[in-house]
Amino acid sequence: MTAYLITSVSVVGAAPTDLLIRDGVVAEVEAGLSAPDATVIDGTGLVALPGLVDLHTHLREPGREDAETVESGSRAAALGGYTAVCAMANTSPVADTAGVVEQVWRLGREAGLVDVQPVGAVTVGLAGERLAELGAMADSAAQVRIFSDDGHCVADPLLMRRALEYVKAFDGVIAQHAEEPRLTEGAQMHEGEVSTRLGLIGWPAVAEEAIIARDVLLAEHVGSRLHVCHVSTAGSVEVLRQAKARGVRVTAEVTPHHLLLTDERAESYDPVFKVNPPLRTASDIAALRAALAEGVIDIIATDHAPHAVEDKECEWAYARPGMLGLETALSIALDVLGPEWDLIAERMSRTPARIAGLTGHGVDPAPGVPANLTLVDPAVRRTIEPAELASRSRNTPYARMTLPGRIVATFLRGEPTVLDGKAVK
Ligand code: DOR
Ligand code: ZN
Repeated sequence: MTAYLITSVSVVGAAPTDLLIRDGVVAEVEAGLSAPDATVIDGTGLVALPGLVDLHTHLREPGREDAETVESGSRAAALGGYTAVCAMANTSPVADTAGVVEQVWRLGREAGLVDVQPVGAVTVGLAGERLAELGAMADSAAQVRIFSDDGHCVADPLLMRRALEYVKAFDGVIAQHAEEPRLTEGAQMHEGEVSTRLGLIGWPAVAEEAIIARDVLLAEHVGSRLHVCHVSTAGSVEVLRQAKARGVRVTAEVTPHHLLLTDERAESYDPVFKVNPPLRTASDIAALRAALAEGVIDIIATDHAPHAVEDKECEWAYARPGMLGLETALSIALDVLGPEWDLIAERMSRTPARIAGLTGHGVDPAPGVPANLTLVDPAVRRTIEPAELASRSRNTPYARMTLPGRIVATFLRGEPTVLDGKAVK
């Protein structure tokens, strides 16, 4: 194993110091270190963060390897500064058995670029009718702890209750895609002034808020853990605020795109801006940003949703919802939050690692901790070129936008997965 000495680096925004990585762990953090056998990385101007952890990634394998594979998505993650990602279950076949989650987990290990933690489906085939084999997935080699039908809502309140009850036994969590399906039938974008003007069927904020309100009550009733995926409205923030004040065991995520982009993007009719839940209004964005700073929203999760060209470059109504996120998330966070390194570490690494129960991740670089970390250059501004992304898909909403920050290096258990801004393998 090679040792790495990173000199004059700021650890999570603190005064510059030297950081030595050896045998997979952070060996020392102190100014003036020397290690003749180590490869030296000049960390001047760089910030070291605990490796980012994404609680919401779509890797598309098995089934849609043309859009993304575990390996290509892992590479995109490493380039984005991530050392662990939770892979959503809406693959084909669906990750609703021990066999499929073990397959995804094994592919992640083989790629070796980030830790891939499979999410298991809540219901068989994401059909919302029967509970999947939650216990078998939990007991499998993949040790699943997060269950989600993401892409679909677990709309049946009895199934949702049973799922919440079931996962209590192993401290699991149900991650809900909050969308009351009867309220979003045929919906194409956020229901509001812009949808009215464009004549597109709207997805009302209340469809999300109603499910979150119901689910926090269910989680409170059974004393179990609920995680709310991609919160997108100001009203959802208020429901979460009240639930948290009562002590409900609920956590919530917001995506980079819901922190930055409004429903006015739909005016272009460019399906790259079609996503579920849809882009909302400027006042929703303001509420989401405030909630993230306060902690009512716990984390930023990407909802990285790669789609093949034929599923995106078509008419708006036929396009699949979803956008890439892994390679741009840190830049959007920097743009939205500014260089608030402790907050960024909290919302993008420490807290998501804790929610997912990923030991060894989400820990600030300090002597003895596993060397899962990333180096950011906040001074660089880069222009996003879709063709340069490592993802197999091209559906980034940030094409040709200039964004702050660049990932210089990422280490997984002391081995670089990214160096000089390039993937090592
Ligand atoms: O926009 C989305 N895309 N939202 C989801 O919930 C699912 C995801 C996907 O799988 O493409
Ligand atoms: Zn979703």
